Amino acid sequence: MSDRPPDALPAGDDTVLTHAGNRPRDNFGVVNPPVYHASTILFPTVEALREAQASASRFSMVTYGRQGTPTTIAFEETVARLEGADRALALPSGLAAIAASLMAFLKTGDHLLMVDTVYGPVRTLCKRLLTDFGIATSFYDPAVGDRIEGLMRPETKVVYLEAPGSLTFEMQDVPAVAAAARARGATTIMDNTWATPLFFKPLKHGVDVVIEAATKYIGGHSDLMMGVVAADHERLIRIKTAAHMMGHAAAPDDCYLALRGLRTLSVRLERHQRTGLALARWLQARPEVERVLHPALPQDPGHRLWQRDFAGATGLFGIVLKPCAPAALESMLDGMELFGMGYSWGGYESLILPVDPKAIRSATRWETAGPTLRLHAGLEDPKDLIADLDRGFARLNAGGGVQEP
Ligand SMILES: Cc1ncc(COP(=O)(O)O)c(C=O)c1O
Repeated sequence: MSDRPPDALPAGDDTVLTHAGNRPRDNFGVVNPPVYHASTILFPTVEALREAQASASRFSMVTYGRQGTPTTIAFEETVARLEGADRALALPSGLAAIAASLMAFLKTGDHLLMVDTVYGPVRTLCKRLLTDFGIATSFYDPAVGDRIEGLMRPETKVVYLEAPGSLTFEMQDVPAVAAAARARGATTIMDNTWATPLFFKPLKHGVDVVIEAATKYIGGHSDLMMGVVAADHERLIRIKTAAHMMGHAAAPDDCYLALRGLRTLSVRLERHQRTGLALARWLQARPEVERVLHPALPQDPGHRLWQRDFAGATGLFGIVLKPCAPAALESMLDGMELFGMGYSWGGYESLILPVDPKAIRSATRWETAGPTLRLHAGLEDPKDLIADLDRGFARLNAGGGVQEP
């Protein structure tokens, strides 16, 4: 048993997932790092106190609970390795990670280019808090590619990406957007929650800052709220400074759970991917379904980009139904036995949710005659999930069914 420093570990993602952050030699041989709960950290001498104050923003020391404990550092080290980043920072939610990253690189008078298919609450953050702080946001079409250059202004400081898009799953040409932004001196920030660092590594495609809601696949068990940001050292110091000025600190218990989630991420994702695709293909063949929104399907408009840049697909995707009576849809959804209805995703269980993307688009239009549903393929037996959906469609049809648009 050796405790190798994380940099000395072999590079394969599965090996990093299995071993990074563990230091059994420092912990009585216990495999997992313990949960260190702390506010006060004691210093033996004035010299040590002085040293800690000088290095408080440098990640290397534990100085106060809000700066993180060794449990936080174990989680952050692991994510940084997976992303190919110098360093990562744990934050109390995915939205906190996004907000801290935006605040770190924007100030009054700056302009932000935000993808139109961004996770809804980020749109609210831009329209309310950032506007109040004198930061202007323009929303752009995810299909923009290198034409993003034409949207940039001298004061554009951040270009923000998310792919595939929230609720509607449009892909983005990430390298093209990142290169155009870099050429104009803007920082790119990408929400990579859907793919996780296993299926897409934004920093290797030219993005400057990657965030993930660890609440989803990284945690994987629907029992924690956390976000994580990864970047090079200089940018991460900037984000960490902003986050700490706002008082954000991820809880040690959640860091422990998120690190435990990482240990099985790879095997869980394989299953989410397989079941998600099985459901998507089955749904494609259903007469009630107008369109399946899943970039790993060859028919999807984003398929070429997904295939070029991503190493896999996770279990979250959408469908557009043909028009139907609201009561028929309610009867379908209310009666689901395995698919739960609720926010969030990325846990072990399957979910289904009616969504309204139309209300949160401004640079693009979401025009469908029928309702849109978001599905999360969990780890259940796919046959049982298909049977649950099949019974759901039977209820929809008993309530009048769909009309051809
Ligand atoms: C794509 C995406 N990013 C970020 C978030 C925010 O994460 P959290 O709920 O941990 O704040 C979510 C939550 O649903 C999400 O779907």
